[in-house]
Amino acid sequence: MPMLTLQPSGKTVEAESGKSLLSAIMAAGVAIMHKCEGKAECGSCHIYVKEGRKTLSKIQRAENEKLDSIVGVSSSSRLACQAVVGTENITVELLSFV
Ligand code: FES
Repeated sequence: MPMLTLQPSGKTVEAESGKSLLSAIMAAGVAIMHKCEGKAECGSCHIYVKEGRKTLSKIQRAENEKLDSIVGVSSSSRLACQAVVGTENITVELLSFV
């Protein structure tokens, strides 16, 4: 199972392949905002993927359009609710805490 490291805390947990990063982060007991409950509508689950970007699912249209509307987006940005865990380790930087 791939390992998911969460920054800035450095907490590392197992992440289930085929599940969203959002569910993996929440399963780790870490609070992350997700106002629209994973519909790519709110942008509150915006994270930066530091490692393992290529193992995640590709960005689809709805995610791309939402990312375009968010301030502070970079080439490492993803919506945690839309990025699906692959088979390799991932490191993400969380931006929001609830
Ligand atoms: S939870 Fe709303 S965009 Fe991810």
